[in-house]
Amino acid sequence: MNACATGRSLGVCEVPPPTSLVRTHLPAAPARAETGRPIIAGMKPATWAYSENYVAEDQVLTDARARAKDFPAVPIGPGGGAALRFLAAAIGAKAVVEIGTGCGISGTWLLRGMSPTGVLTSVDVEAEHQRIARQTFTAAGFPTQRTRLITGSALDVLSRLTEGHYDLMLCDGDKREYPEYLAMAARLLRIGGIVAIDNALWHDKVADPSVRDAETIAVREVNKQVLEDEDWTPVMLPVGDGLLCAVKTA
Ligand SMILES: C[S@@+](CC[C@H](N)C(=O)[O-])C[C@H]1O[C@@H](n2cnc3c(N)ncnc32)[C@H](O)[C@@H]1O
Repeated sequence: MNACATGRSLGVCEVPPPTSLVRTHLPAAPARAETGRPIIAGMKPATWAYSENYVAEDQVLTDARARAKDFPAVPIGPGGGAALRFLAAAIGAKAVVEIGTGCGISGTWLLRGMSPTGVLTSVDVEAEHQRIARQTFTAAGFPTQRTRLITGSALDVLSRLTEGHYDLMLCDGDKREYPEYLAMAARLLRIGGIVAIDNALWHDKVADPSVRDAETIAVREVNKQVLEDEDWTPVMLPVGDGLLCAVKTA
């Protein structure tokens, strides 16, 4: 039994990375400083990059990321995007609601996993972001009837949406409102529906108790609420900046 298998070297496992498994089309491993992503203790940067980019993005998403650079709308990472597509496909999502349209990167991943006739309702306070997102959805080949883009504040808009109608909800808006977004998810999702909360690790700050700014406190709070509420079955996916997912069970 090697040292890693015994658990004695947890976090410092020196088993060589499975380079023979690394797909040649993957980009070279980015340095930590370039990505700003947390690296799980003991994981090699190359392993993290392999995981994050395991499902590669196509030209549509590459172009959308380039457009997003001009706006204060940081897109979900490729690992988080792939997780969203996976979740949408796994439950055959027909009705998805998203807070934080941004430039359409998360929306495109969601649409690619949803039922072919499903509709993505996406809310953003910035009309200009949604104009760019519309370009992304069109470039990805989605007809306009597959998306319902609503400009407005998330809490205002979501309070007017139909209770129990949605299969999946993505929260990627104002971090300070995350606990209220969870309450909205409890109202809007059907039983068996899934809430996905992006930036759940919030740039390494959530796990550092010395960080006490309003955004970090709110993200920490929603993570705690999901964990403690028996009506949710949660998992923290360590993709990108953290994607907290939970199934609504009651
Ligand atoms: C992180 S970006 C979303 C990125 C997008 N999900 C993607 O992956 O392409 C956050 C977005 O939330 C929007 N936003 C911020 N506060 C909001 C609020 N209170 N209500 C609705 N949208 C909000 C911003 O305008 C911005 O476009």
